[in-house]
Amino acid sequence: TSFMLSPRLSGGIPIIAHRGASGYAPENTMAAFELAIEMKADYIELDVHLSKDGELVVLHDETLERTTDGVGPVKDRTWAEISRLDAGSKYDPAYRGERIPLLREVLDRFAGRIGILIELKETASYPGIEEKLAQLIEEYDVAVIAAQEGQAAPIMIQSFERESIRYLAERLPDIPRAVLIHPDQHPLSPDTLADLASYADYINCNYEVLDRKLVRDIHALDRKVMAWTLRDEREMERVARLGVDGMITDYPVWGNEGK
Ligand code: G3P
Ligand code: CA
Repeated sequence: TSFMLSPRLSGGIPIIAHRGASGYAPENTMAAFELAIEMKADYIELDVHLSKDGELVVLHDETLERTTDGVGPVKDRTWAEISRLDAGSKYDPAYRGERIPLLREVLDRFAGRIGILIELKETASYPGIEEKLAQLIEEYDVAVIAAQEGQAAPIMIQSFERESIRYLAERLPDIPRAVLIHPDQHPLSPDTLADLASYADYINCNYEVLDRKLVRDIHALDRKVMAWTLRDEREMERVARLGVDGMITDYPVWGNEGK
């Protein structure tokens, strides 16, 4: 790309690589996460579902067919079945052999190397997924990782599912968490915004509905705001100017010129 965010704009705004560096490698794979590190992203974002036998697996869709050589709902397949699938070839045959990762595998490989923003998907389909996530995160001493690596928050959680975030606010109070806002939910009433702020650290808004007033309203509640999902250079520059606290993008390299 010919466009580069000026260091003045990009400097200091955390860049989150959406499903990894998914503009350049198959989404939610180890390859995309490694590339995000090469591109100097601050975080990787990933999506989590439960397999039939209760494993936390990293995949965006509820079903397997868009990104892998499997078919059907992930919740109808065991981890043994899912682990054999190819998650790279549909993006590009050069990535044949990339697998759907377990969340545990991603944490083992990346916690401390790059921040990890975990999105819980469709939690109504997966009773108990919040507790499973909490137990897994508890195995990682995030305070030690933060101290070693100088990261404020080695792990963060986000979801559209507000009850899940409310649960995690109680269960893992030290792990920063975000509620995602879809354009259909805009505008948020002051009461709704205040309610969200009572249990979420971040209110992460679709970039289309983000304007100066919304950023100001969220900051007035002493909460932070990230913009998602930036796939356009000019939009990235626009939201950077609004003073957002993070930019979730498929193209993390755009935001990191000058780092
Ligand atoms: O990070 C926000 C974004 O990931 C939410 O949408 O569908 O890409 O998970 P989606
Ligand atoms: Ca996501």
